[in-house]
Amino acid sequence: MRAVVLRGFGGPEELRPETVPEPEAGEGESVIDVSLAGLNFADLEIREGVYAPPRLPAVLGADVVGRRRSDGRRVVALLREGGGYAQVAAVRDAYAVEVPEDIDDMQAVGLLEQGCTAYGALVTAGRLRPGDSVAVTAAAGGVGHLAVQLALALGAGPVAAIASTPQKQAFARSLGAHVAVARPEELTEALPDGVDLYLDSVGGPALRAGLAAVAPFGRLVSVGARGGASDTVALDDLTGRSVGVHGLWMRQILAAPAVFARASQVLFTLASRGLLTARIDRVVPLAGVGAAHAAMAARETMGKVLVDVRA
Ligand SMILES: NC(=O)c1ccc[n+]([C@@H]2O[C@H](COP(=O)([O-])OP(=O)(O)OC[C@H]3O[C@@H](n4cnc5c(N)ncnc54)[C@H](OP(=O)(O)O)[C@@H]3O)[C@@H](O)[C@H]2O)c1
Repeated sequence: MRAVVLRGFGGPEELRPETVPEPEAGEGESVIDVSLAGLNFADLEIREGVYAPPRLPAVLGADVVGRRRSDGRRVVALLREGGGYAQVAAVRDAYAVEVPEDIDDMQAVGLLEQGCTAYGALVTAGRLRPGDSVAVTAAAGGVGHLAVQLALALGAGPVAAIASTPQKQAFARSLGAHVAVARPEELTEALPDGVDLYLDSVGGPALRAGLAAVAPFGRLVSVGARGGASDTVALDDLTGRSVGVHGLWMRQILAAPAVFARASQVLFTLASRGLLTARIDRVVPLAGVGAAHAAMAARETMGKVLVDVRA
């Protein structure tokens, strides 16, 4: 089969298509003939060797859609140890979800990984209540653009998008965000009463600014930190302002089958109703994965980036 192989940690040029043996299914796994694979921000950090470095050579890629060889069913699956940028993948049955007929392959793989993260942050950790005001950082990104739509579909009050460029802000408004700003410091003008639920995927100084925008009794949920380590939050600050900080990691969602099943069901149901759409930034062939990594690192992409593994 053809796959994109990483032989040395480093830049996007380290990702090269090769012909390699097909993976075999282990205990509790199934083999999938993949049609599309997804890119996620963590792939960039894994490629650089700064996050969960795998044993090399490695095939990266955390989400795929395709047909299960054992029964021909169309499934979308999450891979925690990589293997997605390939024509064939061995996936854990517990992390594979059958795709409803009215959801196409692009939507299925565009929704599951980043949608479950958004769901976990807003609902499981963030305890979103109808009418809550919500702010979403990196709102034009893969997680962010789904979080904006999900918050609205689940009855949030005003939803504020934070995104770095006017083009990304316009994109977030096109998803239904009531207001779009460049920096968390600008939220005070847009939402003077504060934010009930703040989804942070940036960390560092932006996390502290985001926390300052949270209303009394509100929550901040962190799903990631980049551009430096996450900031330290002092307990006294939280007590004095009566705000909470939560973390959310996809592995905990996958470790809780009922939560994963519920998140997948909500995502696909909302997608079927037209209330949630993965916006596809681009679909690249296997030979284009390196360039797509470079575009993500340069913050050029909006929505989901996909790989057509047959091209
Ligand atoms: N906790 C979990 O289990 C989990 C699961 C999935 C993803 N995540 C995290 O969620 C975040 C978003 O992931 P994603 O897959 O949606 O990524 P994405 O589509 O590439 O979006 C990332 C966005 O982050 C913003 N950004 C801020 N600083 C950046 C920097 N130094 N380099 C690149 N982008 C930067 C950019 O938006 P602006 O230009 O608007 O700032 C960029 O568009 C990542 O931190 C990822 O690790 C966490």
